[in-house]
Amino acid sequence: MSRSPSLPKRPRLELDPEMPLDERLAALKEHFADVHQVNETLSEQLTNAQNHREELTEQVDKLQRENQTLKSSSLYLATAEEILDDGVVIKQHGNNQEVLTEASQAIEQNLDAGDRVAIDDSFGIQTILEAETDARAQAMQVNARPDVTYEDIGGLSEQIREVREAVEEPLINSEQFEAVGIEPPAGVLLHGPPGTGKTMLAKAVANQTDATFIRMAGSELVQKFIGEGARLVRDLFELASEHEPAIIFIDEIDAIASKRTESKTSGDAEVQRTMMQLLSEMDGFEERGNVRLIAATNRFDMLDSAILRPGRFDRLIEVPAPDWDGRKRILEIHTEEMSLGDVDLDRLASETDGFTGAELASLATEAGMFAIRNERTTVTMADFTDALEKIADAEDSTGTPIAFA
Ligand SMILES: Nc1ncnc2c1ncn2[C@@H]1O[C@H](COP(=O)(O)OP(=O)(O)OP(=O)(O)O)[C@@H](O)[C@H]1O
Ligand SMILES: [Mg+2]
Repeated sequence: MSRSPSLPKRPRLELDPEMPLDERLAALKEHFADVHQVNETLSEQLTNAQNHREELTEQVDKLQRENQTLKSSSLYLATAEEILDDGVVIKQHGNNQEVLTEASQAIEQNLDAGDRVAIDDSFGIQTILEAETDARAQAMQVNARPDVTYEDIGGLSEQIREVREAVEEPLINSEQFEAVGIEPPAGVLLHGPPGTGKTMLAKAVANQTDATFIRMAGSELVQKFIGEGARLVRDLFELASEHEPAIIFIDEIDAIASKRTESKTSGDAEVQRTMMQLLSEMDGFEERGNVRLIAATNRFDMLDSAILRPGRFDRLIEVPAPDWDGRKRILEIHTEEMSLGDVDLDRLASETDGFTGAELASLATEAGMFAIRNERTTVTMADFTDALEKIADAEDSTGTPIAFA
């Protein structure tokens, strides 16, 4: 808004010294009146300008306050259902509450029914969410067939058997369960230390069946907007039943299913809500058709007991660090493509007590690196002992086992 009113013309006075005195006086009087007039116009303009300035300051204040509330308060997610003359009908995600609310003109102009919007505590529409923020498309990995097979997994034969029985069998022979008249198991929970093959195991099951594999990490379900996580969970199960037979794999489930914490921040409340949605989806599993759930965690101790209640996961399968046989098999798998010299895998299996699969995989890579450094293509036992030493050194200097990728 630009307001620069033109300034009044400055009155000019020309007095002819030849003029009679009374005429000069009259001219002066007239001039005085003109000046007075201009003075008034100017002070009027000044008042206007001051008023305008006040208005602008108020607007700045208001915007700053709005900005502040936007920054400090949580926004909720909703869908604009209908745009009416006297407002917008929105439906809140999470609780499905419908509310008639108002949107600023700028927002209403760009708003279409069906758009997803972020609303504040008093249901005011704050922003329209772009299509790209639609997390459903982003976060879920729908994968027809991951490339891990059971043969790639060392040890864990008992765990493989259990997972196949609980997940693969019901997917392949769902009629058999129907014929017998029992509900097939809904899901399994894999738990154990990091790097022991839990993610591999879930992928291998998917590889073995023709089922659609939908993978989602728990951390991806923890969303910024209130109601968003619950919506994602709903979407996840919906997507699976659209693509049955399907396997839903929720990796790192501890991110949304940890024990309730003391703090009452809105972030925690959002995680809680996401977990409640997950529990209710798990409870209503039968209607989902031929869908199985696999979840994995390396923080079993952290899990909320609600998620472990009978009827939710049919099997809790522990995936431990490998024993001697497992370690030998894992070493075989990870050295399969390497050209080995005098390498004694039996001895290595004995010397790697406590190593996980991931640590053994990185031991093999490290040994390969020593061979490369010495410009050899054949990997020797010396390379492996050097690699072991390097790993032990790293553990010593940090006091904790080194983290393996
Ligand atoms: N039993 C195993 N057999 C063969 N390789 C393994 C095994 N366990 C782990 N690995 C190796 O370690 C890598 C990581 O394994 P994976 O991702 O399955 O671990 P995880 O149990 O899911 O760990 P996290 O709890 O950290 O998610 C694999 O890609 C593989 O190279
Ligand atoms: Mg994993």
